[in-house]
Amino acid sequence: MRTHFCGLIDESLVGQTVTLCGWADVARNLGGLCFIDLRDHEGIVQIVAEPDADTAGNADVIAAAAHVGYEDCLCITGTVRARHAVNDKIKSGKVEVVATQIELLNKADPLPFHAHENPGEDIRLKYRYLDMRRPAMQQMMRTRIKLVQSLRRWLDARGFQDIETPILTKATPEGARDFLVPARMHPGEFYALPQSPQLFKQILMMAGFDRYYQIARCFRDEALRADRQLEFTQLDMEFAWVAERDVQEATEEMIRVVFKEVMDVELANPFPRLTYAEAMRRYGSDKPDLRIALELVDVAELVKGCEFKVFTDWASHVEGRVAALRVPGGAELSRKQIDDCAAHAAKHGAKGLAWMKVADRTIGREGINSPIAKFLDDATLHAVLDATQAQSGDILFFGAGPWKSVSDFIGVLRIKVAKDLGLVTQGWTPLWVTDFPMFEWDEDDQRYVALHHPFTAPAVDDVAALRANARTAASRGYDMVLNGNEIGGGSIRIHRSDMQSAVFDLLGISKGDAELKFGFLLEALRYGAPPHGGIAFGIDRIAALMAGTESIRDVIAFPKTTTAQCPMTGAPSPVPDKQLAEVHVSVRAKE
Ligand code: AMO
Ligand code: AMP
Repeated sequence: MRTHFCGLIDESLVGQTVTLCGWADVARNLGGLCFIDLRDHEGIVQIVAEPDADTAGNADVIAAAAHVGYEDCLCITGTVRARHAVNDKIKSGKVEVVATQIELLNKADPLPFHAHENPGEDIRLKYRYLDMRRPAMQQMMRTRIKLVQSLRRWLDARGFQDIETPILTKATPEGARDFLVPARMHPGEFYALPQSPQLFKQILMMAGFDRYYQIARCFRDEALRADRQLEFTQLDMEFAWVAERDVQEATEEMIRVVFKEVMDVELANPFPRLTYAEAMRRYGSDKPDLRIALELVDVAELVKGCEFKVFTDWASHVEGRVAALRVPGGAELSRKQIDDCAAHAAKHGAKGLAWMKVADRTIGREGINSPIAKFLDDATLHAVLDATQAQSGDILFFGAGPWKSVSDFIGVLRIKVAKDLGLVTQGWTPLWVTDFPMFEWDEDDQRYVALHHPFTAPAVDDVAALRANARTAASRGYDMVLNGNEIGGGSIRIHRSDMQSAVFDLLGISKGDAELKFGFLLEALRYGAPPHGGIAFGIDRIAALMAGTESIRDVIAFPKTTTAQCPMTGAPSPVPDKQLAEVHVSVRAKE
């Protein structure tokens, strides 16, 4: 139908006849002279319908142009000519196309919203096709496409083999709920959708494929947020005969190459590395945003003997933490802003948030404004100010409580105040976080849970030693973090059956259950499983970072809302009883 793309018409085509297809972005009828901005995936070009200079004819074309409405589909033939008034805002702004023929391919009804508006997300998702016509969305989706192309180029060039793994499968635990699919041919039985291809990729290493990758859809029934969807896409990778550095060095190079290709950004070489313990201690997060310079300072030793009971209690508790966060310029915060900070911290587990404004560091106690200063004697007060390197104009926040909880809530506070006060620097700060604990103790269930997943190898390659020190055991897991986002996570895996059985046992999975759920893995590990390891990257998250958007929904063509629905198709939806009967399912009456 067409000879050129609208957005690519330029001066080199002046004098030529072109045929273009696209949507009418804007149509202006000046009476006997009409302008149409014709838009396709490449951009916009101005079309003019005017009387012919020689014959004063062209009435048909002018009449057709006069009836063009917003988002009508048009096919237009015309001649390219230089424009008097250049439009710098569009690529084709130096030229226009003088129409000799306008064909209306499809008239559009009045639209629920205009491409140049930014309506609410529910409306955008209901009319996702209109939403995605918007240039901003086209741009973001293209960034994702470029990212995936660039990743594949790198992977293919280095001999990684793209292998598909099943979607209808058995549960693979990654810490979320499974989506289940009833098996029509096996009444009462269910397939699970994969939370990741984890077990299959490990088995591919045992099958001799050496280097594997897959752009894999993963399904996790968990609470949705800006960076979480029910189904999302991983770049899933696995390597045989490797230790952590092999995986890290290769994938770090891949991410550097991809950022160079897609964004023209040079990432650090090598990436900095932090252990989990250090990341939690300094930043209160296992995915620290290193664009923010603020760091937590431990003050338990200094406040051990003070009069503030909350501090002294936790300062002397073996699993307690008393941490301070110095915020430069924070003395300007209003009472309301401080209350907001306290509320934010409370949402993340804080029982209270003590603070200290340092109006003037040079005049001692008189220069301090704080509800807790009265509990600290002069020596303690100065020790705290010295340890945090407080200066006039700063505010100090304090958290006291269980170690993990304080780290978490001061960690999120660090991000909030940095954003509020403009303390986040521009740029890209990737890093590795390593040496994660193997297990976390779940108070509610009174058992260990795996911090990564149950197939992650412990740092000590000895079953008895692991059992003896399970609570403090480190794993061989690692995460790649970028600007405060966990963009990838992986580990060296357990490759021996006895160790895998021991880890299941420590996780409270009985022998019978382990056999039922993972018998195939335990067996495969006994027939010559090579040492192996890998990683999976969250493609949606990397694409969102590259596209400069807060939400991964902007880089997913058809995402779900935060209420786990698709407003366009109406999924999920009830199904007829007959269909339920076929899959041997009956639905309990809704409460
Ligand atoms: P993990 O669970 O850490 O590891 O997932 C890997 C990466 O996938 C992304 N991600 C998500 N993105 C969007 N929505 C979600 N709900 C979501 N959940 C995770 C994150 C994360 O870093 N099998 C292991 C990998 C391995 O060990 O090799 C796994 O799935 O960016
Ligand atoms: P109170 O004496 O309970 O009014 O507390 C004095 C200050 O200490 C208030 O600003 C509280 O928010 C703060 N506070 C209370 N509990 C904690 C805690 N666990 N960690 C940090 N600050 C706290």
